[in-house]
Amino acid sequence: MADPQVTQFIGGPRSRDMTMDSVAKMHGAFETRGWGTLAVLTKSTRDYIGYCGVRPLTNTTDVEVAFAIKSSTWGNGYATEAATAAIDNAFKHLPIQRILATVYHQNSACIRVLTKLGMTLTREVFGVWPHDLALLYSLERRKKFD
Ligand SMILES: CC(C)(COP(=O)(O)OP(=O)(O)OC[C@H]1O[C@@H](n2cnc3c(N)ncnc32)[C@H](O)[C@@H]1OP(=O)(O)O)[C@@H](O)C(=O)NCCC(=O)NCCS
Repeated sequence: MADPQVTQFIGGPRSRDMTMDSVAKMHGAFETRGWGTLAVLTKSTRDYIGYCGVRPLTNTTDVEVAFAIKSSTWGNGYATEAATAAIDNAFKHLPIQRILATVYHQNSACIRVLTKLGMTLTREVFGVWPHDLALLYSLERRKKFD
C-alpha cells in the first residue's frame, strides 16, 4: 500500500499506520459482518501479495469486488483467480443479486480483470473527490447459485 504504482487509482500511497488501520477494519468486518476483503497469498510459497474480496460499496446498499496485487507479481492471473473465488463465495453465501465494481477509465489492467470476470460496463459514476468520472461494472447472480 506504500507503492505509488499500485495505489495510483486507489487513493495514493498509505503510511504503515494507515495500512494497519485498514487491516484492523478488514478484521473488524469479519467479526461484525462475517465477510469482507482477505489477504491474497500464493499457493506455492504462501507469500502475501495483496488483498481481494467483497465489501459494501460506500453510500449504497450494494456490494463491490475490490483487489490490489503487489506490482512484482502482476500479470500472473492472481487478481482474476482471487476475485473469481471471492465472487463465487459471495453469491453462494450472501442474498445478493449482483456484484459491482468501480474503476477509473485509465486503469486498463483493472478493466481487463473485470472483463475477464464476466462483468459488464453499466454506466459512468462519480468517483472519489474531486469527482473524477469512474466506470461502474456489474455482474448479475447466476442460477447456479440459487
Ligand atoms: C488490477 C490488478 C489487481 C491486476 O492484478 P493481476 O494479478 O496482474 O491481474 P491478472 O494477471 O489476473 O490480469 C491482468 C490482465 O490485465 C492485463 N493488463 C495489464 N496491464 C494492462 C494494460 N496497461 N492495459 C491493458 N491490459 C493490461 C494483463 O495482460 C492481464 O490480461 P490477460 O490475462 O488477458 O493477459 C493490479 O494491476 C493492481 O493491483 N493494480 C493496482 C490496484 C488497482 O488498481 N486495483 C483495482 C481497482 S479497480
